[in-house]
Amino acid sequence: MKICVIGAGYVGLVSGSCFADLGNFVWCVDKDKQKIDMLNNNQIPIFEPGLKDLINKNYSSGRLKFTTNLNLAVKNSDIIFICVGTPTSNKKGSADLRYVYKVVAELSLYINKFKIIVTKSTVPVTTGDKIEKIILKKKRKKLFEVVSNPEFLREGEAIRDFRFPDRIVIGANSKIATKKLKSLYDPLIKKGAIFFSTNRRGAELIKYASNAFLATKISFMNEISNLCEKTGVNVEDVSIGIGLDKRIGSRFLRVGPAYGGSCFPKDTKALTFTGTLFKTDLSIIKSVIKSNEKRRIFLTERVKKILSNKIKNKKITFLGVTFKPNTDDMRQSSSLLMIPYLHERGAKINYYDPSGEKKEFSRLKNVFFCNDINEACEKVDLVIIHTEWDEFKSLDFKKLYRKRKFKIYDMRNLYSPRDMKKQGFSYHSIGRQN
Ligand code: UDX
Ligand code: UDX
Repeated sequence: MKICVIGAGYVGLVSGSCFADLGNFVWCVDKDKQKIDMLNNNQIPIFEPGLKDLINKNYSSGRLKFTTNLNLAVKNSDIIFICVGTPTSNKKGSADLRYVYKVVAELSLYINKFKIIVTKSTVPVTTGDKIEKIILKKKRKKLFEVVSNPEFLREGEAIRDFRFPDRIVIGANSKIATKKLKSLYDPLIKKGAIFFSTNRRGAELIKYASNAFLATKISFMNEISNLCEKTGVNVEDVSIGIGLDKRIGSRFLRVGPAYGGSCFPKDTKALTFTGTLFKTDLSIIKSVIKSNEKRRIFLTERVKKILSNKIKNKKITFLGVTFKPNTDDMRQSSSLLMIPYLHERGAKINYYDPSGEKKEFSRLKNVFFCNDINEACEKVDLVIIHTEWDEFKSLDFKKLYRKRKFKIYDMRNLYSPRDMKKQGFSYHSIGRQN
């Protein structure tokens, strides 16, 4: 099939290159000319494992093309996926849909025959209805169908999540569109993916409810870990013990510094805003948002305690600053709160992250990017393991220690308190007896 993907971001680039890899012809469009030029020069603007090879393979086969020309791409496609950003607007946390509506208004000019317009971006319930109204100003109803096909891609594992999804959700108010999308996804369905179709608003709500539930699971476990610390229980035992119940499931019960990323924080807020709009109090999700925000502050202040309330002039190293491993994405990462907080209180901060230096810290005069772990951990008072990149999972602390005995604050519980204590390290972690 001939496909147009609008928005060459984390979602659009992965979706576009994966659709091309399924044998379709894909135009990937973005308004950012610099980004398109990079892609046409074999450079990838984001850090996503496997994406470079996937793009190269399909670009050289001629199945994947990058352009800023929306007119050309829409006219030469049957299915148009909208993958532009839907960030949180400052107005009470609702989703900012201006990019979606702008793209829709423009693409409707170029509809020259029947098209299926698909929202893959996370959009609030009823957005499809509004998109339909915008297009109807320019085109007759029989020339298009608007469909919801939300993405469930995790950054760092997005290609695998596309290729082996638990389910493909299609929300359409027409059988033709559902049939067309089902044949597009046929190669994945043949490999076991479950195809689930509902109406358009149903699919829009499934996406938000999914992310909000996952965020709830994480926040629930994070709060239980606070109780574990007070009651002398190992939070990992609790997460295994409850996760063995098939009704709960063992995934997304890992404690950490607070969930971040471009989705959970944005989507939980947007869902509560939808609740308000439809006069429905989503009190559980509101408390998840509050609990997660409180956790960021609570765990940041723990640094003060670990350093016996003396932060000024202390040398602190962050191992990992991204919101999760295998991505360069800093959106809503807890390091964005922790590092400025410690910097304001006079700490000198090194950080090392495998995805490279971060512009977010460039204006902080006592925050330095280090090119490797040894350099970052030299003569410091405290090492904070913030993001669970693989290379932090088997550190040789004795070797890193050589110049000065530093304390360790393991925010991802990568090491065992017992072993660390046996080796004489001053080790702090989450939800366990340190
Ligand atoms: C984002 C959200 O993270 C995700 O939850 C939502 O489902 C889709 O939007 P992401 O790929 O991370 O996904 O967005 P982003 O990385 O911001 O990329 C959006 C791209 O769209 C950017 O490259 C931007 O230049 C492009 N864009 C935006 C257009 O091409 N045209 C526009 O009018 C606006
Ligand atoms: C999430 C959803 O998983 C995905 O389905 C949706 O399409 C987009 O949003 P993503 O945000 O990329 O994906 O990453 P994810 O792996 O879900 O992690 C999100 C945050 O939760 C990260 O900050 C991560 O550290 C945290 N997390 C995740 C935990 O703290 N504990 C866990 O057990 C899992």
